[in-house]
Amino acid sequence: KTKVGVLISGRGSNLQALLDAAQDPDFPAEVVLVLSNKAGAQGLERARKVDVPTGFIDHTLYEDREDFEKDLDAKLREAGVQIVCLAGFMRILTPWFVEKWRDRMLNIHPSLLPAFKGVHTHERALEQGVRVHGCTVHFVRAEMDDGPIIGQAVVPVLAGDTPEALSARVLEAEHKLYPACLKLVADGKARVSAEAVRIAEGSEPDSETV
Ligand code: GAR
Repeated sequence: KTKVGVLISGRGSNLQALLDAAQDPDFPAEVVLVLSNKAGAQGLERARKVDVPTGFIDHTLYEDREDFEKDLDAKLREAGVQIVCLAGFMRILTPWFVEKWRDRMLNIHPSLLPAFKGVHTHERALEQGVRVHGCTVHFVRAEMDDGPIIGQAVVPVLAGDTPEALSARVLEAEHKLYPACLKLVADGKARVSAEAVRIAEGSEPDSETV
């Protein structure tokens, strides 16, 4: 099985979706380490519950972003991590770290990229009056919320939606999309070519969810 390290900063509901998927003996990846840059992150508790090793690296103790990332990188390598999943990890990573994990680091973002990079995606989607919204899993590049797209899930924007209602609808889609995309990558069926991901023939995900 492919060894996965998950980086979180908070709630960890996407981490939970990955942990749940990995319970299936046929799932090609296992979570071997969860690291947080926030001490009280709820996701740490989720990992402990299923006996997955956790770590906390306090970024405020580092003057230099790269020194923080060197420790992060060392912990991932010690655990034998092959793929990194960012799951609500709210620190921008330097090009140094991003290059080290090029095509081996995934992120989930709560919008249909390249629309609505950054924060407050649901509020902005409502302000813009888009009729569909959703989430994206992509390989990480140095530019924020940028990189070859592995999968996307679309949800409708409904009349009377609040940011909270829309966010809940997207989150439900995130929890299906992230494990599906990790599976594709772990199976070697999502490869980057000319900065776009090519999905192996016969492995195209169900268009309703991915
Ligand atoms: C998720 O909605 C994720 O897409 C988003 O943060 C939330 C984390 O929730 N990520 C970003 O905004 C990254 N730019 P979770 O901790 O419950 O998985």
